[in-house]
Amino acid sequence: MSHHIVEFQDVYFRYPDGTAALNGISLRITHGEAVGIVGANGSGKSTLLMHTNGYLLPQSGTITIGDFHLDKRTQQEIRKKVGLIFQNPDDQLFMPTVFDDVAFGPLNLELKPEKVWERVLEALETVGCLSLKNKPPHHLSAGQKSAVAIAAVIVMQPDILVMDEPASHLDPKSRRSLISLLGHFEHTKIIASHDLDLILDVCRRCVVIKEGRVVADGPVEQILSDRQLLEANNLELPLSLQKRELPLGGTMDDISKLRHLLGHWAEHNAEHAKTYREWAKKSDALGKRELSRILDRLADETMKLEELFKEAERLTRH
Ligand SMILES: Nc1ncnc2c1ncn2[C@@H]1O[C@H](COP(=O)(O)OP(=O)(O)O)[C@@H](O)[C@H]1O
Ligand SMILES: [Mg+2]
Repeated sequence: MSHHIVEFQDVYFRYPDGTAALNGISLRITHGEAVGIVGANGSGKSTLLMHTNGYLLPQSGTITIGDFHLDKRTQQEIRKKVGLIFQNPDDQLFMPTVFDDVAFGPLNLELKPEKVWERVLEALETVGCLSLKNKPPHHLSAGQKSAVAIAAVIVMQPDILVMDEPASHLDPKSRRSLISLLGHFEHTKIIASHDLDLILDVCRRCVVIKEGRVVADGPVEQILSDRQLLEANNLELPLSLQKRELPLGGTMDDISKLRHLLGHWAEHNAEHAKTYREWAKKSDALGKRELSRILDRLADETMKLEELFKEAERLTRH
């Protein structure tokens, strides 16, 4: 697939009981974008996502994934390109062991057995579940199941990763590692979630769905700071944007809130500095010396910020 584009044009879908879940939805997502899908319960997010990999087929309108129009004939091909992680990991795990579950997809790819091994172990390592490989999935905690379901999808090396409420079963630490994992996945990502802080962290763009249609679409900071829009869709400002509303003349409670926020604001510094450094090297290799120098300085300054954040955080503890 040359371009990992996802395009919905005027798509309608009605469940057999008559519920109209998609009502003429149109949406275009281009290669490499990270897009958050938000909306009230029942707005059609899951139905939309289940169309991206052909798990459901549109009843009218067209869906284009890369070079293919989605229909019965292209469904199998599209499934190899789009990795869909369901909201409930139990819908995805059905083999006797974690290893078998993650190996299930690659075994159908005509790969050599040692290649399958290698890919499965790598995927389990990525989600921090290597030590669980011989366990039966039904013995795992909810967070572990989610991580294994993610491994079972990334092992297929999809071009487009689609996740439905990926953080809903995760404890804070697993949620953090998921955010970092998603940050490292460079291809197209489409994520439906009520966890607006996660969307803010991982996505550049956010689409609001209501009654099976797009009602807003724009840069994530703009959409997720629009209180009226969020309230009209039963959503709340992400915690990290509520900082603007700290009352003047606060309480000690605000200080703990601030500690939390400092952690949140600071957590990407080291990662960003590393990226600036990489680009500095690339720019240097391309003969862009001045640009490379500035990127190196950006990296240095960002790491200094990291120190300031740590210091501020330390002061919230006294
Ligand atoms: N299997 C189903 N059968 C009938 N109606 C369904 C089914 N799944 C979802 N719906 C309905 O379709 C609408 C959209 O649901 P869904 O896509 O799950 O929304 P969301 O993921 O935003 O909560 C809702 O009205 C929901 O009740
Ligand atoms: Mg849903």
